[in-house]
Amino acid sequence: MRDAQPQAIRLADYQPSAFSISSVTLDFDLYDDRTFVKSTLNLTREGVKDVPLVLDGQELKLLSVSVDGRELNSDEYLLDTDSLTIGSVPDHFELQILTEIHPETNTSLEGLYRSRTMFCTQCEAEGFRKITYYLDRPDVMSVFTVSITADSERYPVLLSNGNRIEAAPLDNGRHRVVWHDPHKKPAYLFALVAGDLAHIEDRFTTASGDAVTLRIFVEPKDLNKCDFAMDALKRSMRWDEEVYGREYDLELFNIVAVDDFNMGAMENKSLNIFNTSAVLASPDVTTDQGYQRVEAIVAHEYFHNWSGNRVTCRDWFQLSLKEGFTVFRDSQFSSDMGSAAVKRIEDVTLLRTAQFAEDAGPMSHPVRPDSYIEISNFYTLTVYEKGAEVVRMLHTLLGPELFRKGSDLYFDRHDGQAVTCDDFVAAMEAVSGIDLTQFKRWYSQSGTPVVRATGSYDAEKKRYSLTLSQSCPPTPGQSVKQPFDIPVLMGLVGSRGNLSFALVDTASEQRSDTEALLRLTQAEQTFEFDDVEEQPVPALFRGFSAPVRIQADWSIDDLQRLITCEEDGFLRWDALQTLALLAVDEAISGREEAALSALIASIQAMLEQDGDRAVLAMSLILPSENYIAEVHSQSHGADPIAIHTARESVKASLATALIDRFEVLANSAIEGAYAPEGAAIAERALRLTALDYLRLVQPEKAADIAVSLLEKSDNLTDRLGALRTLGAVGGKRAEVAFDAFYRRFADEPLVVNQWFQIQAMNPYGDALARVTRLLAHPAYDNLNPNKIRSVVGAFCSANPVQFHAASGQGYALLADVVIDLNKKNPQIAARLLAPLTKWRNYPKYAQRMKVELERIAAQENLSKDVFEVVSKSLAS
Ligand code: TRP
Ligand code: ZN
Repeated sequence: MRDAQPQAIRLADYQPSAFSISSVTLDFDLYDDRTFVKSTLNLTREGVKDVPLVLDGQELKLLSVSVDGRELNSDEYLLDTDSLTIGSVPDHFELQILTEIHPETNTSLEGLYRSRTMFCTQCEAEGFRKITYYLDRPDVMSVFTVSITADSERYPVLLSNGNRIEAAPLDNGRHRVVWHDPHKKPAYLFALVAGDLAHIEDRFTTASGDAVTLRIFVEPKDLNKCDFAMDALKRSMRWDEEVYGREYDLELFNIVAVDDFNMGAMENKSLNIFNTSAVLASPDVTTDQGYQRVEAIVAHEYFHNWSGNRVTCRDWFQLSLKEGFTVFRDSQFSSDMGSAAVKRIEDVTLLRTAQFAEDAGPMSHPVRPDSYIEISNFYTLTVYEKGAEVVRMLHTLLGPELFRKGSDLYFDRHDGQAVTCDDFVAAMEAVSGIDLTQFKRWYSQSGTPVVRATGSYDAEKKRYSLTLSQSCPPTPGQSVKQPFDIPVLMGLVGSRGNLSFALVDTASEQRSDTEALLRLTQAEQTFEFDDVEEQPVPALFRGFSAPVRIQADWSIDDLQRLITCEEDGFLRWDALQTLALLAVDEAISGREEAALSALIASIQAMLEQDGDRAVLAMSLILPSENYIAEVHSQSHGADPIAIHTARESVKASLATALIDRFEVLANSAIEGAYAPEGAAIAERALRLTALDYLRLVQPEKAADIAVSLLEKSDNLTDRLGALRTLGAVGGKRAEVAFDAFYRRFADEPLVVNQWFQIQAMNPYGDALARVTRLLAHPAYDNLNPNKIRSVVGAFCSANPVQFHAASGQGYALLADVVIDLNKKNPQIAARLLAPLTKWRNYPKYAQRMKVELERIAAQENLSKDVFEVVSKSLAS
């Protein structure tokens, strides 16, 4: 363990900054073996006199400090490992600081670092302090002017935020470019890029008629993979004008693709920096899902220009103010661009599988956390995805028109400010008159609420009573919870379809003859419905109107009624998933196969109707092993090996019963050249899912189809699907196909990553041995996050049956990687750890998992990132 235990930072201790910075000038002098940074700050005292100036700074070599032009002696300031303190300063002054930094050895990918041939930055959340001493907090906003000097030949492209105001060659083979950003911003939105980059260019005219130049910069080899992102960018810009009334506010918008990046992308003002995996796209390197991910992330970062940049966060506890809202915005955008039903199913699946697990685990925290040791650990599914669900609930409560009024008011009131989640809710309250006091518990209470539903029907009175009760399990630091304000969008389903009703309750709202929005605000409430013609099955949480676990003792008949008669597509899909969960449980316990028969009948019926093909494709996919494990963790605990076996047997039963259908689908031809567009995406998904079922019954036939897909197909979706099938069948043919595929795409790192990933995720054969081999593969790079995630991340989080295999060697492998990365890249090390922290969910495996956590905890010099995750997951 470290010598001094890292301290928690608390929301309750927030204090405004004692100083403001009206302007900052940064001069960068980039060299191969060092970089000089000269920072000139105009500071003003905002708080009481005599308070010293304390600037954040880490891993910096301080060369000089001057106040109003006079260089300070070393006894006039105090330096420690993360700050520079100047005891006495005037109320108004110019501070100049010269530092030396080493991007060339910076493997944390935070601050200024090198990726392949270029220099780039990542400052959110607290990376700017690795560039220079500064008030590195989001509520200190300033106007930035940035000069960059570098070798002309190797770094012809020099970029920063805002507008380029000067560019000149110097006489020593170097050149200098100056950028000025007129918008005040916090340091986390600063960015710099230097490299030999190619770009594509386009134009966009805003609704007000202003011209914007759009550029995407990449390494020259990737210039042919930028068009899709550019198109997505223009669609995002138009959509934000149409749906939110938000226009872009500068003449230039740049995106740069970087291969070494900790996350997906970063919304730096007018200079978004993207992981190559989140921006480059072509049919050879990108799957259908990959295209959708690129579109969503381009939109997400663009939308941050308003929800994040123009209006930013007061402190990092408010992170969901920008992230939850922006995820909500990008999910609305994706729904509008493609299939809304599919998008909702995907989002809810992620939420239930991963966010619910996070919320039930040792790192559980509210959407607005109360404390953290390392803020990088709080870029979580809870802040992002649950945060988006909270905004979505506001949208449901207010309706689209009032919600838009609320967002207009929010942007209007707070433009140029650093604000809190309360300010966001206050704007929604102001326009709607709805009291959101209780609703705000969604921001402060952690854990996933459980809603229990029971109903009774009085045939004589034609009255249905629905009793809903809510509770929320204890989470770290929060043993008792107050009731949430839960919007329940619902209907009643009769034997032939949805029933009309008259809602009696007045605090709730009838939205149509067959739909009501109930407001569940107490621990238990009963809602009465009149004029109900027959005994109904309640259809609760249409569109998943609140992020809760639902407990209703549905019979198989009830589920079948929902599947066939409910009007909401999400609930039809959800009932089918519930049926599949029951079928898996039957297989585990060896019970009578009632749910399985119903599941087969339902899927057979769906295959015979001509419903939405995209929803059909999703409906054929059983709940994932991770989702089943999450559900089981809530009761008796999960056994990943038993889950895998049971799920396989359900799949095999489906395959056997419906083999003719699957064979036809697996052999179907898809017309036309590849396009990542709705109908074709659905057909490819159906064909590959059918191939996977076929493989369980007729492996040789499936392998033949896979081999021919690999030969003939024009896109990565089919090729990877075919490889996945061959990997599952195994044997010589698989080996040959994997080798040939690698040789064909060895020059495309993004394809190699996916080739790594499907091998690491393959639940058959000896995955541990495969992963060990991949870690020694020449294309593997133990400092590149995409590679680490493709091999180690995929194995530990997406191959549960092999990760948990009896030997415990999977746990040891993960611990070894984490220990190695702890200092090299603490953010990635801490993130990779997530699967081990869930040890309490696996009673039969827990001891072995804990041993590896304890081994990590015993290391010296743990980074704050890893320390926080390990110590919280071991705490009782
Ligand atoms: N703000 C970024 C986003 O959500 C997140 C991000 C990118 C980030 N890089 C990071 C967060 C590095 C922490 C560390 O769009
Ligand atoms: Zn974001």
